[in-house]
Amino acid sequence: MELAAGDAVTPAPWSLSKPPDGFFDDPFPFYCQLREKAPIAQTPDGSVLLSRHADLSAVYRDAVSFSSDKRVEFAPKYGDGPLYRHHTTSLVFNDDPYHGRVRRRLVGVLTPRAVAALAEAVGPYCEALLDRLADRGGGDAVEGYATAVPVRVIGDMLGVPESDRGPLRGWSLAILGALEPQPGPARLAAGDAAVSEFSTYLSDLIEARRRSPGDPERDLLTRLIAGEGAEELTPAELIHNAIFLLNAGHETTSNLIGSALYILATMPGVRRALIAGPEAIPSFVEEVLRFESPNQLGNRRAVRDTQVAGVAVAAGTQITLVIGAANRDPAAFAEPEAFDFRRSPNRHLAFGARAHQCAGLSLARIEARIAIGAWLRRFPAFALAKRPAWQRRVRFRGLTALEVAL
Ligand code: HEM
Repeated sequence: MELAAGDAVTPAPWSLSKPPDGFFDDPFPFYCQLREKAPIAQTPDGSVLLSRHADLSAVYRDAVSFSSDKRVEFAPKYGDGPLYRHHTTSLVFNDDPYHGRVRRRLVGVLTPRAVAALAEAVGPYCEALLDRLADRGGGDAVEGYATAVPVRVIGDMLGVPESDRGPLRGWSLAILGALEPQPGPARLAAGDAAVSEFSTYLSDLIEARRRSPGDPERDLLTRLIAGEGAEELTPAELIHNAIFLLNAGHETTSNLIGSALYILATMPGVRRALIAGPEAIPSFVEEVLRFESPNQLGNRRAVRDTQVAGVAVAAGTQITLVIGAANRDPAAFAEPEAFDFRRSPNRHLAFGARAHQCAGLSLARIEARIAIGAWLRRFPAFALAKRPAWQRRVRFRGLTALEVAL
């Protein structure tokens, strides 16, 4: 990495554990302060925040120095309970060879071609949801649309019967909520309970699928179950990675669709342009990913003495990658605070990069494109009925609700 003149480790100007007033509504001025004043920022607990696009990219590139294995970090946070076992068994929080072993099992059902087949059901499902909203003359588009579409898709992909899908979102939110930097006892208890209930549910579902396998090209659970010698997953590995997929597959995509609708509601010029030229919807979705990245933070741990931008980082240092800040870095994007749905190239890091880059990015993109296209065709003149509120979480960015009038 290049040493930028004047770079040094600087105390972080604010804390992710106790974000400054106004942070949840608009974190971007705080990110800007971080990038400009403390690009390599040290927090009181000794971890380091990185906020520049080039620095995040360099960390993503170097999986040897920067590990994804979270056992050291999560042991004191979660104790030896269900949350600890879940997160430390998910592929995303592991290094190779285990990470690669699980990832190889997944990618076959997440290729663009396989995803295109899965996506056939998305259009008709969007239309059915839009019918329901139209009948009511509006309502909450987060609950009635942005959340419903991804839950349906990932539920289909794992073959969860429709009648069983009720608790999925609650379990997911509880498990992901416990990933916040300071979750507190209530969030931890809810997260542990959710992992236990979710695991019990999935072990029954997996048993049923063992007795009656689905098509491994389309059914993710069947693919995860199918044994291939040394590649076979243990029952616990199977359950925790299926839970991770259900969580990863819908929460972030819901937030992407919700934020996209909010941008369309508040930027009439963008909306008019997309109605006139829907072929720009894919690049619009990329710009939403950059501008309101659903996943605002990533984490790594330095496992050997190394450097970031020429600054020494000791083995053992926890690194927080502030994706939301890197995606508005003026060194990587012209006019980064402007929403430009024609931006090209758009090398955002919303899906991470390299070894752990989001395995579901084709699916997320396709879902969002279809959902936004269907919405604009049906409700070109929709309006906000109420000012929406952003969720109070630092890791994930999305709206709590989006009340619309049609
Ligand atoms: C807008 C939607 C999404 C966003 C913003 C997103 C974001 C991310 C990010 C940033 C990572 C990398 C984590 C890291 O480097 O530590 C990741 C990993 C992952 N995501 Fe997504 N994701 C989305 C949707 C999905 C969907 C729909 C699926 C699956 C159906 C999915 C499955 C995964 C998996 C399996 C990984 C782990 C990859 C690995 O560790 O090799 N994601 N995602």
